[in-house]
Amino acid sequence: MGAQARAVIPFSRPYRAAATLERLKFVVESDHAHGDGPFTAAASAKLRALTGGDVLLTTSGTHALEMASRLVDLGPGDEVVLPTFTFSSAAAAVAMTGASIVFIDVEGPSGNLDVSQVADAVGPNTRAISVMHYGGQPVDMSAVMSIAAERGLAVIEDNAHGLGVMSEYGPLGRIGDVGVQSFHDTKNVHAGEGGALLVNRERDLLRAEVMREKGTNRSEFLRGEVDKYSWVDWGSSYLPSEYCAAVLDAQLDAFDQIQSHRHRTWERYAEGLAEWAGRVGVELMEPAGGIHAAHLFYLLVPDWNDQSDLIRTLRAADVVAAFHYVPLDSSLAGRRFGRSLHPLARAEDLSHRLVRLPLWAGMTDDEIDRVIDAVTRWTPTKENR
Ligand SMILES: Cc1ncc(COP(=O)(O)O)c(C=O)c1O
Repeated sequence: MGAQARAVIPFSRPYRAAATLERLKFVVESDHAHGDGPFTAAASAKLRALTGGDVLLTTSGTHALEMASRLVDLGPGDEVVLPTFTFSSAAAAVAMTGASIVFIDVEGPSGNLDVSQVADAVGPNTRAISVMHYGGQPVDMSAVMSIAAERGLAVIEDNAHGLGVMSEYGPLGRIGDVGVQSFHDTKNVHAGEGGALLVNRERDLLRAEVMREKGTNRSEFLRGEVDKYSWVDWGSSYLPSEYCAAVLDAQLDAFDQIQSHRHRTWERYAEGLAEWAGRVGVELMEPAGGIHAAHLFYLLVPDWNDQSDLIRTLRAADVVAAFHYVPLDSSLAGRRFGRSLHPLARAEDLSHRLVRLPLWAGMTDDEIDRVIDAVTRWTPTKENR
């Protein structure tokens, strides 16, 4: 027998919660597989306890962002200030309403938006500021909220990376007017596909329920508050089936285990790579105040051509690493639906230098050591010359 092939270490692996199959079986055997059944109620209650406010489960984070754009009443002629270094969905949800985007830069290695650029980007047509906490590292929300209050703007908080993170400004996702979570299977807690809308203004709750139920007041009908339901407002079908809610419910029961395992892996990377990084001129992710969601661990290589070199080298060692966002202002749709006041050079630089390492709950010590070993064998390209 030859030597056993070494397994590839994937970039991400969906968490397998112990209770998943048992809860799915319950749904299969019940007569309630469509949305808003017992597992939707149970998972929503757990999210409410974790984040401290009203929650509506959705079919994806993208759909929650679409609902958020409607809840803050975006429409043609409006503008939204939005970081260029984020996922396309935040911008697509704005464009869908007919509003346009003013992109701003990142502050630096955190990947979060540069709050000092927000005020300049606000003009007479600005209606909202959209923020995203990169890797669950809190954006300076006191600065964002004070500009928003001064200029009468709404704040949308994309917290897809930061479920359950407590910041000095409050729980992430709960600080702005409306928050968003994603339960895509690359996220710390997942439902295959899924999301949640964090409703932070009491007056939005009924409207959000209607939007999620095809524009009808069916939720009120199910609570016995009206005799019949009918079409009352703009809406779509944004509620997940009970299959997805059952998977999510099982994940939420394991939230503490998931987080402690991910944080442990994150710490091992930080410790295991520190000496090498200092020696070869690589920057490691360094969250301010140590606050982050252990959603991702990244490093910043010195030169743009190092990024693909490192990813290729790791792949040859059976370790899958990944770059991240291509700045939205430089994308085809970003140029069509938005603009920036000046070149967003820091985001462009970050995008070309950032490499994310494998991180999921369930990585073994051996797998973590293999990643550290493969990374520390690499040296930036300039040093190779
Ligand atoms: C920051 C951010 N916002 C929004 C989304 C969209 O979430 P979903 O995939 O659940 O639609 C993602 C990616 O999944 C994301 O990373």
